[in-house]
Amino acid sequence: MKRDVIIACDFPSAEETLSFLDRFTGRKPFVKIGMELFYAEGPDIVRRIKKRGHPIFLDLKLHDIPNTVKKAMSVLSRLDVDICNLHAAGTRAMMEAALEGLTRPDGTRPLLIAVTMLTSTDQQSMEKDLLIDRPLDQVVMHYAQNAKAAGLDGIVCSPLEAGKVHAACGSDFLTVTPGVRFADGNTGDQKRVTTPERARELGSDLIVVGRPITASPDPVAAYERCIAAFAD
Ligand code: C5P
Repeated sequence: MKRDVIIACDFPSAEETLSFLDRFTGRKPFVKIGMELFYAEGPDIVRRIKKRGHPIFLDLKLHDIPNTVKKAMSVLSRLDVDICNLHAAGTRAMMEAALEGLTRPDGTRPLLIAVTMLTSTDQQSMEKDLLIDRPLDQVVMHYAQNAKAAGLDGIVCSPLEAGKVHAACGSDFLTVTPGVRFADGNTGDQKRVTTPERARELGSDLIVVGRPITASPDPVAAYERCIAAFAD
């Protein structure tokens, strides 16, 4: 997939989201729909945004027993999204079941990627809260290899890990990377962050950018700044 910038549309309503997207009169940005918007508006918001011509990453991060995830993915497969995801921590059996559920009767399916370790988690919180005491990048790499072995198309990780993931899992294995901030911006709750320029050097395929665009006084300019630094 061509390098691109995905805007995380973390808004509480369809109205706010659509008026935000109305500002983009030139190109149709790749849009990420996450839990906040999906839980507020349901599948209809996915159809409405798709109808406007945006590629969609549906970021619902499924994590449950394999049978439940398989059935949920089968429901999501009826939506015409480009990328779906789940947590690699749900195990390889869960990822394999998800892939089965997501595959439509005609054999087509959206891309499926796995969240490795959230970019808001760091070594300290992983050790203290999750009792995982390996180095964080080793954990990310192990989860990436599990996802690849399960047949998934890529992972979500920090841009700081993208190069290593490509080295371990191949250049076609997608790295979708949130935790992107402008050098002069706020990091907020994100911990493993870098700039769009550096994400490109590190080999990210798709960067996910939320607040640096959505909370900017000029979101279109902030988006274009990301595109210029990362994708052009
Ligand atoms: O506003 P910000 O740029 O931090 O938004 C990042 C987006 O990426 C959020 O929607 C968040 O849910 C998502 N995300 C993340 N870390 C992951 C997976 C998804 O930050 N590992």
